Amino acid sequence: MNLLNALKWRYAVKRMNGEKIPVEKLNDIMEAIQLAPSSLGFTPYTLILVEDQELKEKLSPACFNQPQIKESSALIIFAAWKNYSETQVDEYIQLIANTRNVEVETLEGFAGMIKNKINNTSQENLFAWATKQAYLALGFGLAAAAVAEVDSTPMEGFNPAGVDEVLGLPDKGLASVAILALGYRDAASDYLVNAKKVRRPIDELVIKH
Ligand SMILES: Cc1cc2nc3c(=O)[nH]c(=O)nc-3n(C[C@H](O)[C@H](O)[C@H](O)COP(=O)(O)O)c2cc1C
Repeated sequence: MNLLNALKWRYAVKRMNGEKIPVEKLNDIMEAIQLAPSSLGFTPYTLILVEDQELKEKLSPACFNQPQIKESSALIIFAAWKNYSETQVDEYIQLIANTRNVEVETLEGFAGMIKNKINNTSQENLFAWATKQAYLALGFGLAAAAVAEVDSTPMEGFNPAGVDEVLGLPDKGLASVAILALGYRDAASDYLVNAKKVRRPIDELVIKH
């Protein structure tokens, strides 16, 4: 499906039917998320892919028992980084050097810029910054799922501390910020299946100059 038609087709599914997504489609969605841009390309978040049914059931109470958690084929948890160090910057710089076949020394200025950012920004603001990057990636995942005709629900209706505990995220220096549930709509029980999209009209949404 082309992007615009896919975006008209998708909606935030309330009930899924438990059917599994083909692995190729899941991989495409994950790759689209990987291709999302991020500030400085630094990608200060990590994805947790949950397909295990038992683990989904453990996550359910922390997600206010929203049915998509257990009924999905997969959950992608977007976890923003809580801790920052110059080592992370050095690793990123090394990745650029290896990928583009350039000397690390040529990237010193860029490395300094990122180090300056992480050393001179409060932990709170770095977490907020990381969260924005994660949400952008969530958007890419939503769009890619729709193009692949896979249903999805973007979710922030959960207790992050509860989700983090189940997934052991604090020990990894991570904190959940959003969840993308992927699967297939259960047309018989989803009250929104035929609902029209509600969006502010384009001429109200946009100020033109
Ligand atoms: C960041 C974010 C968090 C959301 N959290 C939830 C959620 O926890 N549960 C849910 O059923 N829908 C959730 N939604 C879905 C929105 O309610 C939905 O996207 C919005 O009403 C527009 O409808 P549509 O996506 O079906 O077009 C969330 C959407 C976004 C973007």
